[in-house]
Amino acid sequence: MNKVHITIDGIKLYVPENYTILEAAKEVNITIPTLCFLKDVNEVGCCRMCVVEVKGARALQAACVHPVSEGMEVFTHTPKVMEARKVNLELILSNHNSMCQTCTRSWMDCELQSLANKLSVDNVRFEGEQKKQPLDIGVSIVRDPNKCILCRRCVSACKNIQTVGVIDCVNRGFETKIAAPFNLSLADTPCVNCGQCINYCPVGALHEKSDIDKVWEAIYDPDKHVVVQTAPAVRVA
Ligand code: FES
Repeated sequence: MNKVHITIDGIKLYVPENYTILEAAKEVNITIPTLCFLKDVNEVGCCRMCVVEVKGARALQAACVHPVSEGMEVFTHTPKVMEARKVNLELILSNHNSMCQTCTRSWMDCELQSLANKLSVDNVRFEGEQKKQPLDIGVSIVRDPNKCILCRRCVSACKNIQTVGVIDCVNRGFETKIAAPFNLSLADTPCVNCGQCINYCPVGALHEKSDIDKVWEAIYDPDKHVVVQTAPAVRVA
């Protein structure tokens, strides 16, 4: 394997030419935050949390997918990089149902939450339309698209690891979402309920169906596109 000389934050490295900047940074214990990236599973560079400055490049580059090259100089924690990561995170949070109190992935089991904590993002400056999408209550898996951050890890796990492939990314722009073909519920697809999508989800957009979900299932009408956010009243005899 050919190797190349690069510099990261002033540290000189000699690394294989098929390395990404993220892999090279790991060699010298430089931590670059990631969200969508999962080694050998999901390497699509879509969340932009791992952006870094590369000398001579016109724009910031995603370290998880950008390959190293001879003479490359990389800066991982400049003010410009830190601001870009914060803005990216705020944009993701601005369209995320932040019902953390009742989320199955809270507290600190949520990668989005812990990243917000690490980057000191305690305020979202961007207010705008939020997508309101129906829950998909399957046989044993519940999908909440309103918490989905479109990292595509579930898609990769389903397609590439389990070779089932019942979900994919559809539409474009603000309308982008993860869905089964023809917007079917997971329950109506050949989903094998392996739960790998839950394991790979960094947030609470997928979880195992619980008893409370069975209650929702009984009262919830996905055709009306109603997102239920409060618990039904319980009558005490
Ligand atoms: Fe690199 Fe998401 S972790 S783009």
